[in-house]
Amino acid sequence: MAKIILTGDRPTGRLHLGHYVGSLRRRVELQNSGEFDKIFIMIADAQALTDNFDNPGKIRDNIIEVALDYLSAGLDPEKVNIFIQSEVTELTELTFYYMNLVTLSRLERNPTVKTEIQMRNFETSIPVGFLNYPISQASDITAFKATTVPVGDDQLPMIEQAREIVRKFNSTYGEVLVEPDALLPNNSVCSRLPGTDGKAKMSKSLGNCIYLSDTPEDISKKVMSMFTDPNHLKVSDPGSLEGNTVFTYLDAFCKDEHFEKYCPDYKNLQEMKDHYQRGGLGDVKVKRLLINVLEDELAPIRARRAEYEKNIKGVYDILKKGTDAAKKEAAQTLSEVKAAMKINYFEDPSLLEGWQEKYNG
Ligand code: TRP
Repeated sequence: MAKIILTGDRPTGRLHLGHYVGSLRRRVELQNSGEFDKIFIMIADAQALTDNFDNPGKIRDNIIEVALDYLSAGLDPEKVNIFIQSEVTELTELTFYYMNLVTLSRLERNPTVKTEIQMRNFETSIPVGFLNYPISQASDITAFKATTVPVGDDQLPMIEQAREIVRKFNSTYGEVLVEPDALLPNNSVCSRLPGTDGKAKMSKSLGNCIYLSDTPEDISKKVMSMFTDPNHLKVSDPGSLEGNTVFTYLDAFCKDEHFEKYCPDYKNLQEMKDHYQRGGLGDVKVKRLLINVLEDELAPIRARRAEYEKNIKGVYDILKKGTDAAKKEAAQTLSEVKAAMKINYFEDPSLLEGWQEKYNG
């Protein structure tokens, strides 16, 4: 069976380091692994509207920002199809048929949706479109017959919902759809990078993000004010690694080579951590290392972004081409779905013949 990836992001803001370690970096590796027959990366504008319906301008503006972030992170339009969800109208049509296969109480039990409802104060009045978005996400995945969906662990309930819909569809109408598997980040640091303030999650609304498009000055300022160990007051004090954001970021980004290059007093991160815990290592030295490590990772991304920013029309063309390819794929699945449900009235001559026979013998 073909190995197919589909994944995506809601375009509600520029992408940050949390997105990068949690998914973008992995997508680029998967793209370059050559193991996948097709890769679709979706800018989920329609899903973003389910909780931003009153602010379509924000979503529209961020489509190009997210596309720029994708391309600058190293996604290669020759190898992946980057597309805009709302342009692939077949996805909406699939959603409509899948809605019959899911109960209201099942949607209300979805743990991710439950948390989001609380966060958005939707408790007293939930927009139908919002509650329904796991079904629409199942359409996104199944329209491409995706086998592999690289996501963070918060998305596991969505994949489970998609699998249930696939099973229900296939057992009701015949084998058409493919059950997808989630592909989770390979280590826990990458699953959820904390914000620069040490809070559990990097998030635009908390103002604790380092963006892929940040300048070197932004990064240096943000790292220097990062949360460390509040009890590590003097250099000579023993320091704690628990909840120490600077070390968490080093865990996510640092390689042994970085020590040789930027901090030859230590061979590797473990040696540096040991020294920090013993006492005698100041935060500033650790932060300087982190700035260098982040710069190594972000400088090429920033340079690629600058190139693409000079040619926004080119970025539009990439999105158009990816969207056309995605549309073709989704249309094929939709026609198989309708054939299985026998609602492809004008395409299946046997449907007409059945009536002919009934009334004219
Ligand atoms: N729900 C995802 C997010 O909030 C975005 C998304 C929409 C998605 N459709 C998808 C992810 C299909 C994976 C597969 O980031």
